[in-house]
Order: sequence, then structure tokens, then C-alpha cells
Amino acid sequence: MSDLANLTVVDHPLLRHKLRLLRDESSPTKLFKELVDEIAMLLAYEVTRGLDEEAVTVRTPLEETTGHRVVEGRIVLVPILRAGLGMVEGVVRLIPGVRVGHVGLARDEESLQPVEYYFKVPPRSEVHRFIVVDPMLATGGSASAALTGLKARGAERISFMCVVAAPEGVRRLAGEHPDVPVYAAALDRELNANGYILPGLGDAGDRLFGTT
Ligand code: PRP
Ligand code: URA
Repeated sequence: MSDLANLTVVDHPLLRHKLRLLRDESSPTKLFKELVDEIAMLLAYEVTRGLDEEAVTVRTPLEETTGHRVVEGRIVLVPILRAGLGMVEGVVRLIPGVRVGHVGLARDEESLQPVEYYFKVPPRSEVHRFIVVDPMLATGGSASAALTGLKARGAERISFMCVVAAPEGVRRLAGEHPDVPVYAAALDRELNANGYILPGLGDAGDRLFGTT
């Protein structure tokens, strides 16, 4: 599967367990929200493996030693509105100093093209690394537009993190943003004619915010 080489499917029994509950159509909004939050935290553990750190001195009750400090303030988390908001808290719990930008994109239900309605991220000069989050990578149109928008504002080191990815979206990002690694809890089979991921979990935004 070399055309999906940009994708890392994070492999963990807890992720698979939570993902099965997330897919279940009978899971209510409260549970769905909690699961997205927990999955985001587990994924973030993997996405942040290569974070910048610096050595600092620490005094234990017995002696002085060298410890490590992650350079947190230089990381910006960028949820794609609306559904990406469901992944913010889980990551913030893991990286307390992370800053949060916002990109507002809605997929036109007919054309499936993303329409931008909001864009607010910290100035590039203050940022070392961006993590863009959205539960669903379907056609890849929304993710690609968010990445293009960030790069147009000078962003360089960007990762993309989602819960469920479709092969179509992963391939699109590989073609349009080969420099951006993609992390997912699952790679699903395909898209249906309406651009929904199969088997998927339905409309993530509607299920998160109870708007179905
Ligand atoms: C969903 C999802 C992604 C996008 C994925 O958002 O959260 O942003 O669709 O589809 P794509 O890969 O084909 O672009 P939607 O546009 O439904 O907006 P919402 O988050 O406000 O529900
Ligand atoms: N957006 C969603 O929320 N779900 C899908 O399956 C595809 C796009």
C-alpha cells in the first residue's frame, strides 16, 4: 500500500475498543463525545512522539539530575470546525500549554467542496509545529483546504490527526500535501456516493453536537 505511505494507523487495543463503541449507532451523544475526546488523547500520544524537548535540571529529594521539558507553547492545535472541536480537550489534557487555532470549513453537501468561513491561528513566527485535527478524513477536501490555508500563512511543520480515514482522503493528502504525516485510529474501506465513509460512524459533527 505504498500510496498510503503518509498514513500511520495507530494500533492499540483500547483504540479499537473505543472505536467500536463510537461506530455503534446506538451510542448516545454524551458517550460519543467522551469517546472522541479519549481517542484524541490516545492518538495525540503517538502524534507527539517527536516533539521538541530541552534538558533542564531537577532536584529530587536525594540529588540533582537532568530532566526533560517539552517546548509546549510552540505547539498549536488546529481543529477544523465543527467536528474537530470534539478532539481539542483530549489533546489539551495531554499537552497543557498547547495553543488552539481554529479553521471553519463546512462541506457543501452537493459538491462536497469545503467552504471556508473562519480562520484564526497564532502568527507563524511564534509556532514550531501545528497539529490539525478533524475526526473524519473523507474526500480530503476539508483537510487539504485547511493545510493549504495554514501553509499560505507560513506554517511548515504540520501533522494531521483524524479518527477515521478513507483511502480517498489519505491519497489526496499524499498528493497535495506530501510533507504532512497523517495519523488515524482506523483506515476504512471507501466512500459512498454522498461522500460518507464506509463503514464509518456517520456524520461526526451531528453525532458530537446532537444535531441529527
Ligand atoms: C465533516 C468532517 C470533516 C469533513 C470531511 O465536516 O468533520 O471536516 O466533513 O469530509 P471531506 O474529507 O470530504 O472534506 P462537515 O463539513 O460535515 O462540517 P461539520 O464539522 O460542521 O459537521
Ligand atoms: N464527514 C462525516 O462527518 N462523516 C463522513 O463519513 C464523511 C464526512
